[in-house]
Amino acid sequence: MTEQDIDMQRIPRHVAIIMDGNGRWATGRGLPRTAGHQAGVETVKRITEEAARLGLDYLTLYAFSTENWRRPDDEVSALMALVLSSLQDDLFMRNNIRFRTIGDIDKLPEAVRKRLRQCESETAANDRMTLVVALSYSSRWEMTEAARRIAREVAEGKLAPDSISEDTITAHLNTAFMPDPELLIRTGGELRLSNYLLWQCAYTELYFTPVYWPDFSVDDFHRAIASYQGRQRRFGKTEEQAARDNRP
Ligand code: FPP
Repeated sequence: MTEQDIDMQRIPRHVAIIMDGNGRWATGRGLPRTAGHQAGVETVKRITEEAARLGLDYLTLYAFSTENWRRPDDEVSALMALVLSSLQDDLFMRNNIRFRTIGDIDKLPEAVRKRLRQCESETAANDRMTLVVALSYSSRWEMTEAARRIAREVAEGKLAPDSISEDTITAHLNTAFMPDPELLIRTGGELRLSNYLLWQCAYTELYFTPVYWPDFSVDDFHRAIASYQGRQRRFGKTEEQAARDNRP
């Protein structure tokens, strides 16, 4: 699979990725699980640079879920240290990439929170692509938060219950600043969404690969994009209607 196999005129605007298989990649090599996460950071850099080069507007990576807090303390600490150290790299400035986070950032250790905020402000004017990292994130958490904010606005008389639409919900989510992903990739062989972008993926094309995240190559990324480009997105319409008017 090379770049010739993908249509550069039909690159998705937004790709979301569930980076899975770091632990299995490491244990299969007799290494501690954290070595898998370390190798996973190299894949993050490789795929981020390639996504920017291909012309994506948004790449959203699931780095740490609300449920991941249940992992052993030493693995959680190692992951936090990795996030912190990988944000020291000048990947974003070098590639003109804006950095954003989604998730319950207040739950993260102070040093990580501080660095994330710094990175967001340092890169705010970069405009080639936005890399969004989901940290302490889950869709149910995000939707619950949105419901609370909407309820507060109703209670304060700022919002009429009958005026609440799908757009109101979308606008109260953490992801309000970006379009829905056209393509979601999950590495590591599991066939589920694991509480990731459930509202936003209503019409998203799903691509599952058994390749573990540390092994996920630029070629594998091209394969996922080529698979997306080979599908017809119908948004509930008939084949003929969709061919005529390919929009939700
Ligand atoms: C899933 O593999 C991967 C994670 C829970 C962590 C991924 C995080 C990184 C690669 C660091 C990212 C850093 C930045 C700045 C984006 P797993 O441990 O669930 O693998 P397994 O299913 O094989 O056990």
